[in-house]
Formats: sequence, structure tokens, C-alpha cells
Amino acid sequence: MEKKWWKESVVYQIYPRSFNDSNGDGIGDLNGITEKMDYLKELGIDVIWLSPVYESPNDDNGYDISNYQGIMKEFGTMEDFDRMLAAAHDRGIRIVMDLVVNHTSDEHPWFVESRKSKDNPYRDYYIWKEPKDGQAPNNWASCFSGSAWKYDETTSMYFLHIFSQKQPDLNWENENVRREVFDMMNWWCQKGIDGFRMDVISMISKDPAYPDGALKETGYGDYSPYVCNGPRVHEYLQEMNREVLSRYDLLTVGECSGVTIEEAKRYANLDGTELNMVFQFEHMDLDGGESSKWNERKIDLVELKATLSKWQTELYGKAWNSLYWCNHDQPRILSRLGNDTDEYREISAKMLATCLHMMQGTPYIYQGEELGMTNVPFSSLDDFRDIESINAFHEYTENGQTKPEDMMRYLCYKSRDNARTPMQWSAKPGAGFTDGTPWIMVNPNYTKINAEEQMARKDSVFHYYQNLIRLRKEHEIIVYGNYELLLPEDPDLYVYTRTLHPEKLLVICNFSGSARDFTLPEGFDPKNVTRLTGNYDRAAVESSLMLKPYETMVLLSRS
Ligand code: NOJ
Repeated sequence: MEKKWWKESVVYQIYPRSFNDSNGDGIGDLNGITEKMDYLKELGIDVIWLSPVYESPNDDNGYDISNYQGIMKEFGTMEDFDRMLAAAHDRGIRIVMDLVVNHTSDEHPWFVESRKSKDNPYRDYYIWKEPKDGQAPNNWASCFSGSAWKYDETTSMYFLHIFSQKQPDLNWENENVRREVFDMMNWWCQKGIDGFRMDVISMISKDPAYPDGALKETGYGDYSPYVCNGPRVHEYLQEMNREVLSRYDLLTVGECSGVTIEEAKRYANLDGTELNMVFQFEHMDLDGGESSKWNERKIDLVELKATLSKWQTELYGKAWNSLYWCNHDQPRILSRLGNDTDEYREISAKMLATCLHMMQGTPYIYQGEELGMTNVPFSSLDDFRDIESINAFHEYTENGQTKPEDMMRYLCYKSRDNARTPMQWSAKPGAGFTDGTPWIMVNPNYTKINAEEQMARKDSVFHYYQNLIRLRKEHEIIVYGNYELLLPEDPDLYVYTRTLHPEKLLVICNFSGSARDFTLPEGFDPKNVTRLTGNYDRAAVESSLMLKPYETMVLLSRS
């Protein structure tokens, strides 16, 4: 397998708004990130993925961009950006930018022009359609509730917005759009950035027929078959690769809603004609409903193992995997798959981390995951800031589909805001994130879960992550070894091996809160194994083990 730095790296995602506020306005900023560069160096990560820092009216916290080559005022200036980039590079840390080009903000000058008249030179930069029988051109639902079409009175036509009404979709069919996007990407690359995380990049090519989608419970139709992995998406990415990506040494990861294994092999093909890797969603969707994520369902471990193992084995040698439990769109994994009570919080956080970081692929850590940050005890709709959550609350409760008290529980469990509360740096007021009033509430558990406390304590979740990252650097088998799942039907244990001759790794994770017996499989002789890591003290490894609640360990054997 060809060796690449991005296969051997660990990526850390920063959501700048919530990471560190350097000027007391309650909003994280670029200078705040620069201040914490030594923290990231100490953790040992190689790459930062920076969620959007561009100028934006913040309808969707920066995922609605009004100037791709300017910095959001609340985050600082381009000089601050350059200082942050230099501070990262000085420490050997690379910076990957978020590239949001499925849509812009409606305040982007292209859209401001586009909506002016039907013959404006920018008209065709976006997707405009005539009304159909006086209504929207089709029944597609927006991701953020309601119709995906908005009527614009100036020209009596509709424009497409798969996300909010302030996020009109760009028309990638238009070669001027592609050229402008590629020019902008080249500009950033020449500045010295090290890659792109591409927002919903699987959605840039739409089915030109714009057919109605299957009806969802909200009464709107499902756009996915006509938007995800659309007819020209690979052509566009190959063009982007020729015009930009192939000219630099970058990490590229495509956020690919609706991606299948077959599609992933194309997006992340080993010939390097498109991207390095994709984010797939199948494991995150296992607790989703028929047509919406709003429920309290738990992920079933047997299904989780089947899904992750399918990606591990089917992409092996054909495309590269990304590995993640958390990001700014997901609730905290500890409250979703682990146990966030005081008794087991740290133990289960370490188990989840081990399970993911010993797999094949490039691991992504989302800010605060390395401390075992948890979901947030939100108590009313006023506590939420996320447009998806707030709109969904109104849509589901106002059409009578869901009772307000039920919807509030679903939000508390699944809302993206669970990931977006401030990074917990210390037990000081404002969690050490800000001296001012934070833009979103701080999780009250910051007095016990915070970086300062964990950095001072050897057995903390922070130090456990630090060690996992170090192990990946010390053992090639963790990066390149072949993966095999054991005990696929076991409802409590996730056990797998990695093989890179002459070494073999055994990864044991007890996902349950009960003790469980386990016998080492063939090829793992207790006298001949090294325990690389684990979350309980154990004097020795025996062939028959009684695993403690949420216990994990990694055993290395050489033949
Ligand atoms: C995916 C991003 O991760 C999410 O935060 C955003 O709301 C949508 N794309 C729209 O840009």
C-alpha cells in the first residue's frame, strides 16, 4: 500500500466559534486558536481541520459564506489568519480549510447580482426555476425544514436552497462557477494551506430533470436520489483535481452524504484523480428514523459492527477510510454510545476512542472529544442556537407531528448544539473559553470536565488520546494493517484484529456496562503478547479474561 502523510496523520477539528475567545466578546476567534497551538502540539495531532472562518452573516454559523477570501470579523483579520497558519506550521501542524461550495450565502455578491434580473451575468450562477402550477418547481424538502425552493418576487421565479433560505445552491453546470471556485481554491493553496474538507461535496451535481421525491412525514419530498452522487459529480471533482488539487500536496476529504461503498471507491480512488478520502454517514445514521433523525433510538452494536466492518474491509486496498465519532453536526459520542455518568464517563470515553483509533483510516478528533465532553442539559428552546434544531422544533410541533416535550427530548439527545458549546479549558467561569458572555451556554459540567484538570492528571482521557496518537506513529500496523471483525453477533463486545505480517493486533472493546468473559482467539498467546494500551490497570493478560464494564485493551503479538 502506498504510504502517504495523510494516511499516517491524526486530524483535529476546530469549530472556531466555540474553541477559544481571545478578546472577551463571547465568540471564539483565530487569535484564540493561535494561543492554543501548544495544547494541540502536546496532544500530538498532525492536522487541524478548521470549520469555516470566512465572511458570513452566520445564518448557519459560517457555512453560509459571503466572501471566500475574507475572514469573518468576529474571528479576526487575514493577518490573524496568517499568524495562526505560521504558528501551526512552526509546530509541524498542517491546516485544512473547510470548502463550502455547494452553496453560498444569499449575501454573497454573486447572489446579490443573480437575483437582480433574469439577464444578469450572474443569473446562471444559481439554480433558478419557473413556478410549476403556481407552486414550487418540485416537492423537495430543505435539510433545515420547509421547501427547498424559495420564491423571489423580483423576477417571479424560485431558487434552490437545499439548506437554509440564506444558502442558495450554486449551479455547477455553469463553467464560470467552476472556474471561480477553482481560482479561489488556488489562491488559498498559494497562501500555504494544506488541504480541504469539502462540505456536502457529493451534492454539487443535481439531476437536471428535478423530479419530485418520495414523500416524507413532513409532507415534503426526499431530494437525495436526485442530489447525492449526482450525474456529473465525478466529472466536476476530476476537473477540480486537474485544476487545483494535483498541483499541491494536500489532504482532501469530501463530506459525502448518501455515499455508498461503490461511490466511495470512485471519490477516493487510489489513482488520486479525485479526493483522498470521504466522510461516510452510515454508522451515524444507525439511530436515524425513516425520514428524520429526531428520536431517542440507540445505536445497535451488532449493526454498528457490521457497518463499520463493511467500510473497513471493502475499501481496503481500494480507497482510504476516514474515521470519526464526532464532529460539529453530531451529538457527543459519549452520551450516544458510551456512558456519561460520573462512574463510567472516562472509562467509556477511552473505550470508544480505542475502538475508533485502532481501525484502518485517518482518525478525526472533534474539539473536546479528547476530554470526554458530553451532551448538554439544555432546558428550553431558547438555549439552542442551531438553525436546523430550531426550525425542526417549529416544523414538527406546529404541524402536530410531535409533542413539544417529546421534541425537546429529541433535541437534547441529537441536536448539533451538543457539539457546539464552548470548549472546556478550565474550571474558571466561562470554562476558560471566554471572559465575556458566551454566544451559547457552557455545559455546566465544565467544573469537573476541563483541559486544565486533565492535563495535570496522568490517567485522564486527554493523556489516553495522546497515547493513542503516539501509538499510531510507533506502529505501522495501526495505519496499514488489514482489518478483520471477530464475534460479529456478540451484542456487547466489539473485537477485531489488524494484521501486518509478522504482527497482529487484537482490539477488545466491551460496549456494555456489565462484566463479560472473553477468551483470547488463536494466534494470541498470553505469554507472547504486549498490551499496548487499556483503560483499567491489569497485572497480566490471561487467555481467559473477565472484562470489566466498558473495558478495552489492545494486544500486539509477533509471530
Ligand atoms: C454540512 C456541514 O457540516 C453543516 O454544518 C452545514 O450545516 C451543512 N453542510 C450546510 O453547509
